[in-house]
Amino acid sequence: MLDRNNELTAWDRDHFFHPSTHMGMHARGETPTRVIAGGEGVYITDVNGRTSLDAFAGLYCVNVGYGRQKIADAIAEQAKNLAYYHAYVGHGTEASITLSKMIIDRAPESMSRVYFGLSGSDANETNIKLIWYYNNILGRPDKKKIISRWRGYHGSGVMTGSLTGLALFHNAFDLPRAPILHTEAPYYFRRPDRSMDEEQFSQYCADKLEEMIVNEGPDTIAAFIGEPILGTGGIVPPPKGYWQKIQAVLAKYDILLIADEVVTGFGRLGTMFGSDHYGMKPDLITIAKGLTSAYAPLSGTIVSDKVWQVLVQGSDELGAIGHGWTYSSHPICAAAGIANLELIDELGLIENAGTTGAYFRERLAEAVGGHRHVGEVRGDGLMAAVEFVEDRDDRRFFDVSQKIGPQVSAALAERGVIGRAMPQGDILGFAPPLCLTRDEADIVVKAATAAIEQVLGR
Ligand SMILES: Cc1ncc(COP(=O)(O)O)c(C=O)c1O
Repeated sequence: MLDRNNELTAWDRDHFFHPSTHMGMHARGETPTRVIAGGEGVYITDVNGRTSLDAFAGLYCVNVGYGRQKIADAIAEQAKNLAYYHAYVGHGTEASITLSKMIIDRAPESMSRVYFGLSGSDANETNIKLIWYYNNILGRPDKKKIISRWRGYHGSGVMTGSLTGLALFHNAFDLPRAPILHTEAPYYFRRPDRSMDEEQFSQYCADKLEEMIVNEGPDTIAAFIGEPILGTGGIVPPPKGYWQKIQAVLAKYDILLIADEVVTGFGRLGTMFGSDHYGMKPDLITIAKGLTSAYAPLSGTIVSDKVWQVLVQGSDELGAIGHGWTYSSHPICAAAGIANLELIDELGLIENAGTTGAYFRERLAEAVGGHRHVGEVRGDGLMAAVEFVEDRDDRRFFDVSQKIGPQVSAALAERGVIGRAMPQGDILGFAPPLCLTRDEADIVVKAATAAIEQVLGR
């Protein structure tokens, strides 16, 4: 077993170009390679037989948990019967058509059609193209800019990396590219003026947005994109009244809303969609991760009836839409999606995300909320974060060079629990599979408490 691991580690260092990894350190062997070999429920096991409770569900995507026979069987069956056929010029498969019906049945009322891709990034790329197409068909060729938020995460392609509002994803890549703009992050803990209450801070964010729209010219702004709850930017729920105030500004200037539900779609907040949870009325919804629980790569752009009608008008004027990928609606991925959505219903996982999520966040806040270096414990549904500060009273943050977040997540991993050091700030994030039990939540809280005390004292 160990020899095999050593061999894989050597091949890994010499040949594997990892995403989001320090390339030099990894190639030189200064950071570990962990070879994951199996998974069951909320646990993963590496080739050395070491088991960890995965309290981040991979990259908040293995929502039904690991090792689900039903999904594996559906994938195998589809691969045997028909591994592939494309979806161009009106073709489909039983799996892709059935899954589109299941998604629209679950989506907010105004939604009409789903276009399938493979990743959250490519689905957001599709959103941008559809919005440009939409405004061209409506005779508004200047209405093309997309407003995103600092700390938003929407992918790491050229346009979607531009939408993303995190420095790591821009540095030395010549991003962001026009015509993408960034407005205030809805991050109450980091509000500029600490005397603001949540409603006032929401109003401040809406005012900043309106100021940007007016300065740029409302006729140049096509859409606003946001995750219902900030994910990679720090797991930050919106402050009170935020989406209502933002949507009022968007409506005033005829600006479309894209809800990026790659993380929140299909149950993570205890509701089918985050849009339902926070009263958002999007024109387009991005879905990915939870659609198949990552058993196969599949994403989607859900288009509202309002947008769909204009797209139809477009192809009546211009002919077939010039957008598509070989693997759009791949039948093996669609079969995984069907089995996954059925499993979510059968096991009551959305309800569990709400109830066990609330239990987990309460226990976590009780256990570490009073620590002198914990500035905030926050979250919603089965998403939670602990933010570390050097000084609670004057909200002074640690210097990034101290790497407090990564140190705590490493100490947690040593205790057999995986959390995620979020990329900007000293923030320990959790987004476990939606099948998490209370006992498993207790294990995570206990390990997190010990890890925090190891790095930051009692
Ligand atoms: C909200 C959100 N949108 C888009 C993406 C990009 O998805 P992918 O990594 O599948 O391209 C992510 C990935 O974490 C995400 O969290």
